[in-house]
Amino acid sequence: MIRHRISTEMLWFVLCLVTSYLCSNWADVCPCESQELCHQIRDERDFEVFVFDVGGDTWKSYNWSMVTTVATFGKYDAALMCYAHSKGARVVLKGDVPLSFMVDPDNRTAWITEKVNLAKSQFMDGINIDIEQAVEDGSPQYHALTALVKETTEVFHREIPGSQVSFDVAWSSNCIDKRCYDYVAIAESCDLLFVMSYDEQSQIWGDCIAMANAPVPQTLNDYSQYLDLEIDSKKLVMGVPWYGYDYPCLNLTQGGVCSIPEVPFCDAPCSDAAGKQKPYSWIMKQLNNSMSGRLWDEQQQAPYFNYKDKKGQIHQVWYDDPESICAKAGLVSSKGLRGIGMWDGNILDYSDDPVAQQQTTMMWNALLGC
Ligand SMILES: *[C@@H]1O[C@H](CO)[C@@H](O)[C@H](O)[C@H]1NC(C)=O
Ligand SMILES: *[C@@H]1O[C@H](CO)[C@@H](O)[C@H](O)[C@H]1NC(C)=O
Ligand SMILES: *[C@@H]1O[C@H](CO)[C@@H](O)[C@H](O)[C@H]1NC(C)=O
Ligand SMILES: *[C@@H]1O[C@H](CO)[C@@H](O)[C@H](O)[C@H]1NC(C)=O
Repeated sequence: MIRHRISTEMLWFVLCLVTSYLCSNWADVCPCESQELCHQIRDERDFEVFVFDVGGDTWKSYNWSMVTTVATFGKYDAALMCYAHSKGARVVLKGDVPLSFMVDPDNRTAWITEKVNLAKSQFMDGINIDIEQAVEDGSPQYHALTALVKETTEVFHREIPGSQVSFDVAWSSNCIDKRCYDYVAIAESCDLLFVMSYDEQSQIWGDCIAMANAPVPQTLNDYSQYLDLEIDSKKLVMGVPWYGYDYPCLNLTQGGVCSIPEVPFCDAPCSDAAGKQKPYSWIMKQLNNSMSGRLWDEQQQAPYFNYKDKKGQIHQVWYDDPESICAKAGLVSSKGLRGIGMWDGNILDYSDDPVAQQQTTMMWNALLGC
């Protein structure tokens, strides 16, 4: 009896060892309902709708008839991958690494190998390289960054046919926030640039006042800058913010100008760091409790409002809504850009409140213009 039990346990022990060996070394098991959903997406769609997903499960409420790529900046979620594939959308990794490590070619190769293996083991369709680091023109890091993008693209395209390699650039190509990159070579080396057309008040040189996160005229002008560099319009995806800034006002003039505390950034005396980033869902609730209601700034073509907090402090909130986003989306079609996307997909109100639902639908639809 006893001997029999021991041998059964032994058998189980051996079986477990073999199974775990097979699982970790042999092949990655497809977590989807059907094996087919683990196949990487190869089709190219004319118009990109590029979504940054930072985690949680609101992705279930995205408008999947338009989404083409989801960059997963949260924890890897196999259910999201399976679902995106069922809709023909790509799911891509986040790639971020200190550039000082990437000057060494062996280190670059090691990093790229690790990323491509991770993407393959998770059945993913590419990588979004998000290096938001200061780089000096012509420095070793400057060249390392260009090489990193080029080599990553070569390896991903070879190892995962049809995969997409994208690179995130700031709203301006003019060394903004000390990011002097070789934009032209980087654009040529990858599939697309996601232009982060937001945080445009990171360096305030004029009056220290609250202003729009992504004013329409300035945003549009900066696409002209990218296009003037002769970067192919089909490489540019316009990034719009689904968040705004809440500034405490030192002073609110009769004309509605809100002076903000001086918080320097990159040599500029003031910056948007004086405010707090707030999601559209929060902004819509706060708008209901505002003193001013929704106001529209003609010059910046952006909505804003003022409110008083519980302590009596006055705030000014600047944000984007369907009207300002439509104005930007118009340029995507007029200039023939590759598409549009947002930071980030999760920050709308996806509850079943009917007012919220309508606002959320309108924000998605604004991406395609008016
Ligand atoms: C999703 O987007 C499509 C356009 O691609 C639009 O026609 C449709 O109405 C949207 N769906 C919802 C639920 O808003
Ligand atoms: C290579 O990368 C590692 C981190 O992965 C870092 O510690 C090391 O300093 C790097 N080496 C060089 C020469 O950059
Ligand atoms: C507030 O604004 C008024 C003008 O509207 C100005 O005279 C005053 O100095 C300002 N106060 C502060 C603290 O900035
Ligand atoms: C704002 O207030 C209106 C009217 O009271 C209400 O119907 C709506 O749900 C509120 N919206 C939000 C986002 O709280």
